[in-house]
Amino acid sequence: MWYLGAFALTLLTVAVVLYRRRQAGQSEPAAPVEHFLIKPYLQLGDGPQSDERQSMEVVWHSRTDADHWELLYKSASIYELRSPWLKAAPAHRSYVGAENVAGSFRYVARLDGLAAGTHFHYRVLCNGVEVFAAVCRSSRKARGQNFRFVLFGDLADGGNACRKIAFRSYLERPDVVIMPGDIVYKRGSVAEYLERYFPVFNSNVASPELGAPILRSVLTMAAVGNHDVGMNNPEDIPDLDDHPDLMGFFQFWSLPSNGPVSADSKKNVPDLRGTPQRKEALLRSAGWRYPRMANYSFDFGDTHWLVLDANAYMDWTDPHLLAWVEKDLAESTAKWKMVSYHQPAFTTDVKHADEQHMRLLCALFEKYGVDVVFSGHNHTYERNFPLRFKVQPQPDGSPKDRRGRVKGTFEFDKEFDGVRNTKAHGVLYIVSGGGGAKLYLTPERRADHNALPPYTCKLVDDVHSFTVCDVEPAKLTFRQLSDEGVEVDRFTLTK
Ligand SMILES: [Fe+2]
Repeated sequence: MWYLGAFALTLLTVAVVLYRRRQAGQSEPAAPVEHFLIKPYLQLGDGPQSDERQSMEVVWHSRTDADHWELLYKSASIYELRSPWLKAAPAHRSYVGAENVAGSFRYVARLDGLAAGTHFHYRVLCNGVEVFAAVCRSSRKARGQNFRFVLFGDLADGGNACRKIAFRSYLERPDVVIMPGDIVYKRGSVAEYLERYFPVFNSNVASPELGAPILRSVLTMAAVGNHDVGMNNPEDIPDLDDHPDLMGFFQFWSLPSNGPVSADSKKNVPDLRGTPQRKEALLRSAGWRYPRMANYSFDFGDTHWLVLDANAYMDWTDPHLLAWVEKDLAESTAKWKMVSYHQPAFTTDVKHADEQHMRLLCALFEKYGVDVVFSGHNHTYERNFPLRFKVQPQPDGSPKDRRGRVKGTFEFDKEFDGVRNTKAHGVLYIVSGGGGAKLYLTPERRADHNALPPYTCKLVDDVHSFTVCDVEPAKLTFRQLSDEGVEVDRFTLTK
């Protein structure tokens, strides 16, 4: 009789497997995959944040608003398998596609009550059918929780290098990814985001040829670069008549709204060209995000991050802006203070040499104990000596000359080597702009390695690379890795 029982059990197992396969198979063809213009990705959003409870957003775009969407999630715990799924009701905000791209509907589900610093699962259901599932590697870390961040700027230009950077950085298993600007080339337009950014950084699989599923599984934070606002050069004026879908940054990102609100709506914004209708369309779909979201701050574990817009239209002598920066840094009690903006204050690049206005913030960074300032813009890796910089005003009292240059005096800490001497006296300025865009290797563009500026400690300009940093309360361990995973720099910073 035993063989009858075994036979019945085998039949039952086969039936269950077939049923499950059928179920799984059903979800594939029946799922309106084409409704995902953009597959779900994680954003910090603007919800309440405390070390005890976290909120994050899952965002996706659909071609239609005719479907019924649901999002289920649960935080990790030792009782994970038995804990119930929580439901987040996605709200959708109509996104007005510009004239040269098809419109889409943006869905945002806010996940409240997440435990700090843990992974969580989420599932997206369309008309009752699961069409997407992913695991977020970590919610925002609380104080005292060690973590790893990856950082690179100047990425999605449509080429292969950014796919390798996405793949390699994903292998490092970061808890958060920081992008200091020039996220999408050439103009940061909606169409370019769809073609060059989301398919690579939210790829279904991880491979050097395709990219990696970073955006669905890791929180990413970004600063706005010049290409993100349609400015190839500092003197350019973004033109909605030529490119009606500019400013994708303000459509796709969902970042904190704690930046400065200017009383003068014409100050510290790009001088946009375009018909009133096109400008209205941008404002309608971006909402408060344009332009306010370009400056903000947030905490992650023991780090405080001040993220700034360093584009040419910003006036970093504006007392209103400076007061906001000062208040933000003064109020932070985080162990480590980081700043991220696109155009570096100190550069090896000849073409960008005059873009020095971020030097105007050095004194505030020094006063309030900023540890590291990250930039991109140069498609290189540059580590400077820890330094202090004192602005030397022009004869007329102005802090900048007519070309925008900021003269001053330096104090370097050349004792710091990041190996034996790991306590820095001064601020460490790092350029990590090798995230995928074309390297500066032509004779007219490449920096002269025999005549580097006095502040440059290390320059790596012949490979694409990204920064990996392990954060502990009293120690930061940095590695700079190439797109092949080769270490090109390593140093430690301690308190
Ligand atoms: Fe740039």
